[in-house]
Amino acid sequence: MSSQRGEFGSRFGFIMAAAGSAVGLGNIWGFPTQAASNGGAAFVVVYLLLAFLLAYPVLMAELTLGRHAHGNMITALAKVSRNGTQRGLGTLVGIVGIFTASLILSFYAIVSGWMIGFGLAYPLNALGATDASTWLSEFSFNRNLLLMLVFMVLTMTVVAGGVEKGIERWSKRLMPALIVTLVALALYVLTLDGAAEGLAVYLVPDLSKIWSTDLIFNAMGAAFFSLSLGVGTMLIYGSYISDEEHLPTLGAQVALVDVGIAVLAGFLILPAMYVAADRGVMIFNEAGGLLSEDTLIFVVLPALFDSMNETGTVLALAFFGLMSIAALTSSISMLEVPVSFLVERFQWGRLQAALVATVIISAMSTAIVANFDLLFGLVITVSTRYSQPLLGLALCLYAGWVWRRDLLLKELAKNEPVIEPTLFMKWWPWYVRFVCPTIVVVILVRTIA
Ligand code: TRP
Repeated sequence: MSSQRGEFGSRFGFIMAAAGSAVGLGNIWGFPTQAASNGGAAFVVVYLLLAFLLAYPVLMAELTLGRHAHGNMITALAKVSRNGTQRGLGTLVGIVGIFTASLILSFYAIVSGWMIGFGLAYPLNALGATDASTWLSEFSFNRNLLLMLVFMVLTMTVVAGGVEKGIERWSKRLMPALIVTLVALALYVLTLDGAAEGLAVYLVPDLSKIWSTDLIFNAMGAAFFSLSLGVGTMLIYGSYISDEEHLPTLGAQVALVDVGIAVLAGFLILPAMYVAADRGVMIFNEAGGLLSEDTLIFVVLPALFDSMNETGTVLALAFFGLMSIAALTSSISMLEVPVSFLVERFQWGRLQAALVATVIISAMSTAIVANFDLLFGLVITVSTRYSQPLLGLALCLYAGWVWRRDLLLKELAKNEPVIEPTLFMKWWPWYVRFVCPTIVVVILVRTIA
């Protein structure tokens, strides 16, 4: 390997970085309530299956393409192309990928900024700075803008540090901190009144609820977002893996950590919601479903923390700290997509590339903050519901059809003297060729219809 390009220094470092990308706001604010409302443990099992049946094979396509090229998505798709048309289309797909990653970051940074704001609001309030605390926790243009910029600067600082000294180093610090905080919070909340009921809602399986095709396809879409697929995030992380590593195992470990943390988050979120209900907080919407997503994070849980005085301040600090960490290890992986492109295509230094990408994305984000009602939902829909699956489809087609199969197998078994006919080797090339594209097309058709 040339020492010019960044490379992850260790297997653990790669797993922390890739799992850090995967584990984000989605795992904590989406998965637990979705599971509880849709069959509890039965849903958890179905989600695990879907993650491995759809998301894992696509993740493998990205990691393999990336490591093969040791370059960004455009380089990788060109490298496996066999003619000019394929190369041209590959460039187009790569550019759309870079744009989509930037678009996703432009809304993600706004929400992540709110996490930092709430995290600061509690201790400030406890210290008597009530005005600042209120300002940080109430919706306003200035607050949204300032916190978004703070979050973008944090993200830029990590990415500018480089693959090993920035992304890997911070992921190795932050991910263990996230897991310890999550476990500690869950253990504490489980001792409170009402927690047992939440646990039951989360875990008692209800098989009758999971046989809805809508639900299954939504869950697949969620798994796609959760594993950061389509836009070249995992591809570029794959390009920093050493040729000695066995990719199928690494990919499986990343997927397991992602799903594992989503499941673990359920042991915190559902008990916490029912503890809140026990203290008189409303946890259901008008239709009788559990409140979720932004309402869960910014209304229900704060109401719980408010009811607990000093303990509430500590819990809030831990919880929003946890959310900020989850967001940061994800956002650095999004920013790495345009940054790696600028570095590789124009031979820019990392700092310059990180600065320019941050300025552009912050400008996009500012446009969303300024036209929040119009743009926020629209950007999320376009980037995650249309663009992301479409790009995932293109990646499957390149891995399954464009790339010569013997070369693909050789890449997968790079460090092995002979290509072992393992289960993965036998099935995956076929699977990524036929099954994955079919599933993604069905998801897209259902989104459009
Ligand atoms: N997977 C992260 C989450 O669950 C978000 C994320 C990081 C992402 N990188 C991405 C989503 C790339 C789509 C594409 O919150």
